[in-house]
Amino acid sequence: MSASSSVFTRSHLPHPTAVSASGAWITDADGNRYLDAAGGAVASVIGHGDPAVAEAMAAQTRSVDWVHASAFTTDPVERYAEAVAGLVPMDRARVFPVSGGSEAMESALKMARAYHLARGETERAVIIARESSYHGNTRGALDVSGREPLRRPYEPWLGRTVRVPAVSEYRCPNPAHPADCARFHADRLEEAIDGTGPERVAVFVAEPIGGATSGAAVPPDGYWEAIGEVCRRHGVLMLVDEVMTGFGRTGEWFASEHFGLRPDLLIAAKGASSGYWPLGLAIASGLVHDAIEEAGGLVHGFTWSHHPVGAAVGLAVLDRIRELRLVDRARTQGEMLLARLRTALEGNPLVGDVRGIGLLICVELVEDRKSKRPFPRSARMTERVLERAMEMGLILYPSTGNVDGSNGDYLLIGPPLTVLDDEVELIVDRVTRAMAVPG
Ligand SMILES: Cc1ncc(COP(=O)(O)O)c(C=O)c1O
Repeated sequence: MSASSSVFTRSHLPHPTAVSASGAWITDADGNRYLDAAGGAVASVIGHGDPAVAEAMAAQTRSVDWVHASAFTTDPVERYAEAVAGLVPMDRARVFPVSGGSEAMESALKMARAYHLARGETERAVIIARESSYHGNTRGALDVSGREPLRRPYEPWLGRTVRVPAVSEYRCPNPAHPADCARFHADRLEEAIDGTGPERVAVFVAEPIGGATSGAAVPPDGYWEAIGEVCRRHGVLMLVDEVMTGFGRTGEWFASEHFGLRPDLLIAAKGASSGYWPLGLAIASGLVHDAIEEAGGLVHGFTWSHHPVGAAVGLAVLDRIRELRLVDRARTQGEMLLARLRTALEGNPLVGDVRGIGLLICVELVEDRKSKRPFPRSARMTERVLERAMEMGLILYPSTGNVDGSNGDYLLIGPPLTVLDDEVELIVDRVTRAMAVPG
């Protein structure tokens, strides 16, 4: 990237020009090689440069490149929806393919609203979501997200979501922690529903296991059972955001499965295409779908939704996940990576917590380990580590400002699920050096 570039870039960090990518590695125009321990944005599951996916994409482009979903269906879309419906922990799932996670969130929110309208519960429009959550960057999805730094410039456009506390075993808001944390959160949700008026609440939205903004936070035992019970009792739909966790990342096909969770609505993206195509999925249970259909159908759509090439990519990625046994691999490689990182970073005074599940891991940096006080934002700790890692040829995924809306330094590690043993060792070595206290 040069000063004369016409690209409106995403960040001010230096952007080398990527010229090739294979497995977990990216090579730039100067011949530097980077180990992508972030899987892009914790997105790549099968790794880069898979010829089977490239071939599936090319073959589909040659037969039917695209048709508009209001007029046609296609064989890959039908087959992909059937395959995904058979994998998600939902009854008679119906899959609405779109172009990414934010579009999937917008679509699923409309499904929630449409379901209540179809049942004559016209007042049900309020969305409840957690603090420190991330559900996308379009205006509707951003309003559901609790990530303050991303919301701040657009606040005048936002503000319709009711908030409940974030789930964090490291910074648990429950005064009695670690006792009764699940009950604590379920009670906060119940208060939010009661305070809004149960007849006005449409849907509760949350990541089953935290993504970037809550730093791979795994909920306490019993959390989802207690939340599910409150939602069901009040007729509130559960929309689970599996954009980061879906398609094997946490060691199950979908993170909901760790908790026996069967949501009414589920969204996925990232791992669905592993980056080979911009693909997102909004998925409704048969019950939600049928109610909407009987009332005349969903008033919604995008030009590129139900894209046959996206579906062909999705099918090819599913094949690769199965052939390479990547769901199991996420579990075994993840256990090894987490254990090795914990050992390597144990004595590091900058490291407050190393947590996660499968290949979704977060290192949280703190100024003071005892009080868990975060560094002030002005210290730019995340950026400093990121830059040092980049110099060593290691890509990490940053997330800042999530402790109190301004401060907080998380570095996410989420390599492709194909990551090899020696690459795990390299990640541990480079992370340890990038986070070493400056001497
Ligand atoms: C949990 C979660 N939901 C939604 C999104 C938004 O997805 P996209 O960036 O594809 O719009 C993301 C992206 O990071 C995410 O991690």
